[in-house]
Order: sequence, then C-alpha cells, then structure tokens
Amino acid sequence: MKANCMTRRDFVRLGAGAAVAGAAVNSSLLEPVALAAQTPADGRKIRFAMIGTGIRGCDLLRSARKVPTGVCVGAADLYSTRHQAGVEAYGADFPTTSDYRALLDRKDVDAVLVATSDHHHRRVTLDAAAAGKDVYCEKPMSHSVEDGFAMLEAVQANKRIFQAGSQRVSSILYAKAREIFASGRLGEVHEIDAQWNRNSPGGAWVYPIPPDASPETIDWKGFLVDAGDRPFDAKRFFRWRCFTDYGSGLGGDLFVHLLSGIQVITGMNTPATRAYSTGGIYHFKDGREFPDLLETLYDFPSANGDVHVHLHCNQNNDSGGEGITLYGSTGTLVLTGNTVTFTPQDVRPKFEAYGWGGMTAAQRQKGMEEFKAAHPETLPAPGDAETFTLPRGYDDTAVHIANFFNAVVTREHVVEDEVFGNNAAIGCHLANHSYFHRSVATWDAASKTIKV
Ligand SMILES: NC(=O)c1ccc[n+]([C@@H]2O[C@H](COP(=O)([O-])OP(=O)(O)OC[C@H]3O[C@@H](n4cnc5c(N)ncnc54)[C@H](O)[C@@H]3O)[C@@H](O)[C@H]2O)c1
Repeated sequence: MKANCMTRRDFVRLGAGAAVAGAAVNSSLLEPVALAAQTPADGRKIRFAMIGTGIRGCDLLRSARKVPTGVCVGAADLYSTRHQAGVEAYGADFPTTSDYRALLDRKDVDAVLVATSDHHHRRVTLDAAAAGKDVYCEKPMSHSVEDGFAMLEAVQANKRIFQAGSQRVSSILYAKAREIFASGRLGEVHEIDAQWNRNSPGGAWVYPIPPDASPETIDWKGFLVDAGDRPFDAKRFFRWRCFTDYGSGLGGDLFVHLLSGIQVITGMNTPATRAYSTGGIYHFKDGREFPDLLETLYDFPSANGDVHVHLHCNQNNDSGGEGITLYGSTGTLVLTGNTVTFTPQDVRPKFEAYGWGGMTAAQRQKGMEEFKAAHPETLPAPGDAETFTLPRGYDDTAVHIANFFNAVVTREHVVEDEVFGNNAAIGCHLANHSYFHRSVATWDAASKTIKV
C-alpha cells in the first residue's frame, strides 16, 4: 500500500474529475493519525524479538524502526545470512540466533513478531504464549483450521495479547471505508467483490534463490519440522508459498488480506457458512501445488440476510490490481490499494418507460399520469462521488505494529485479535479445501471443521 500514492500537488494538477472519469467527484487526502504511543509505567520501550527475518520480517523491522514505543532486542532465522539482513533492515544491531526458543527464554523480551512460513505459526505462537510473550503473528494466522483454534486457545489460556498481521486493518483508508459503511449510506449490502491480480514472477512467488543457500547455511530440518522429511530443496525453502506443506497459496497470501479488509469494514467477524472455489495452474507450471488463478464464492451470514463475497486472484493478468467493491442498495464503495470512493446510486422513483413499450400510447400516457400523481415531490439528486486517498508514504504496517505495542501496555484487545485472525484464516482454508476437493466446502461451527 506504500506505492502509487498521490501528493497534494498531484491532486490539484489532476483535478477533481481525474479519479472517476466523467463523474463529479470530491477528492480529499486522508490525514494520518498519530501512532499509538502508550509506554509502560516505568517509561521503557516494549522489547520485542523478530522471529523470521525473510522478506516480511525485514519489512516489519523497517516499519518497526518508525515506532518509538518499541525496540528490537533480538532476532531468529533458520537461514544464517538472514541474521545480517534483519540487522540491516532495522538499522541497528541486536543479537541473532537460529533457535527462536533462545529468545523466548529471555526475561527481557516482552513480545515477539512472527514472520515465518505459515506452517511455523502454530508452533512459534504456542511456545511464545507458554513463555509469557505477547505475539504479533503474520497472516494467514494459521496453516490449518486445527492450528488456528490451537493458537486461539493458547493465547487465551495464557492471557496473551495477539495480533494477526493483516496491516490494512489498522489503515486510515479502511477506517474511512468503515465509517462510510457504518453511516448506512450504502443501504443494504448483499454483494462484495474483491480481487488481487498480478502478472510477474515475483507476484507468483518465484523468489530468488541466493547462491549461498545450502544445508550449511539453512537449518533444513528446522524448516521441515513435522511437514514431512525430504532432501534439501532450496526451491521449497524460498518459494514455500507454492507448496501445501508450508504455505497456503493465494488463499493465505492474498485472500486473507481481502477478507480481513471486508471484516473490518463491515464488522462481519465470523467464518463464511460455505465456499465454492475454482481455478488452476495455468502459467507457472514449475512444480507448484497451489493454483495461479483462484476464484471463490462465499456465503456470509448477516443479521440483514446473507452477504455473498466473490474473491478472485489471478497471477496471469494484473488488471484491477488490489481492490474491494461493496455493492449497496443506495451506494457503491470501491477500495483500491490507496483510495476509497463512495458513489451514491440514484434511487429516486422515475417513470420507467421500458416496461410500457409493449403497450398502447393511451396506456402509456395513463401510466405516466398515474406515476406523476403518485410521486408529486421531487427528491434531491444524489450527491457527488467522494474519493479519499492515502498520503504518500503512508505505512500501515508501522501503525499496525504501534497498535500492537499499545495493546501490550494496556492489555486491551486489538481489532485484529486471535478471533478476528482465525476467522479470516478460516476463509483461506475454506477456499483451499473447496479447490482441492472440487466441491462446495461448508463450515460446521459446532465441530469447528470444514465439511464437503
Ligand atoms: N502482512 C503482509 O503484507 C505480508 C507480506 C508478506 C508476507 N507475509 C507473511 O509473512 C510470513 C513470512 O513470509 P516471507 O515472505 O517473509 O517468507 P520468507 O521465506 O521470505 O521468510 C520466512 C523466514 O522465516 C524463517 N523461519 C521459518 N521458520 C522459522 C523458525 N521456526 N525460526 C526462525 N526462523 C524461521 C525462514 O528461515 C525464513 O527466512 C508468511 O506468513 C507470509 O504470509 C505477510
């Protein structure tokens, strides 16, 4: 969400009509709110350790650097070269290790940020919670439904603060979308469409394999843990998202961000009741197990009737990029990576001539007169569309980390807590279950399992 942000000057230059071609639109730049800044009573900073200093771990460290209430005091990674990568990302030195349990043993560590491959989320979270550490765990919270509930129970049993890592939940863009949704201006919403499309090898997880990757630099057994023994395979280590033993495919990588966004905007914090997926591996025939195109239709229960959510991610065409559209009876809300636009629908009663086309002129005339008599008042036209844009460089990850540190001090739940994170991850598991079983996947709340 850091890319493609407009400056105030860009806004003036492009003018109001540029954002939504041909329509009147009022454009505003969103104002960032100050980072949450609670500190413990003794005034010290939250001392956190980073577990996993790969792509995301380094990103988290770069963002954490901007949060004045916390300080990184150690990091762990299974690939020794990444110890230095973490230190470089943070821009300050700290001790590093290959064994994260050494960090959990330290009394001076308050919390951990977990950015490991998905199949380690459960193990690390359970160990951290048992060691009395608060946990920020990257999305998808879980690698399986069972893992998610085990994590939820461990966090609650140990009275830990937990935050899942879909940072858009803390973004001012999503706060604006939530405000518009809560105002009722959308009317009834029964349909939501969201996509995240890419068209590049990096967008399809074909990440670089460094020349020093070997069993000497990588703790391969430590990576596999209980995922099934196999000889060292750097492709599986660096491109784990492609494989079911370690990753969660498009469902875990991108659907969870979209679902977390939908949850925070609408307040729907529950698993879908059923899901149907389709898709396939069409372009990246590199031995991967997850599809490079995935589409899922979900039914979500809601007090006002079901909400039907259509998610689709394509790694073979980037049109539309990232976006969420909520279709309401009186308005439409569209989020892109850095804008949210509300467009009211014109629902004023009007004489709809089409239906009278197969009748006589006299019938049509009578119908029009009756319509006019029944609708004597002219209601005001709907207002203009409104667009809100993130300021350039807005870092929702820094805000998300700040909110977590704040909760570590206040002991109050964050929005994206273990229940929220688990529900979003269940959406990923429903999608993958349906895809691999080629059948509708149903959520059985009583047994907390997926049925087909
Ligand atoms: N919130 C976001 O926008 C976002 C973006 C990218 C990735 N992620 C999530 O972050 C997580 C990491 O993704 P990535 O792209 O950084 O992967 P990556 O492969 O680049 O890095 C993962 C690192 O974790 C390390 N690791 C795994 N198990 C470990 C353990 N037990 N102890 C210590 N280190 C361990 C590996 O050695 C590896 O270096 C994933 O869950 C992913 O879904 C979130």
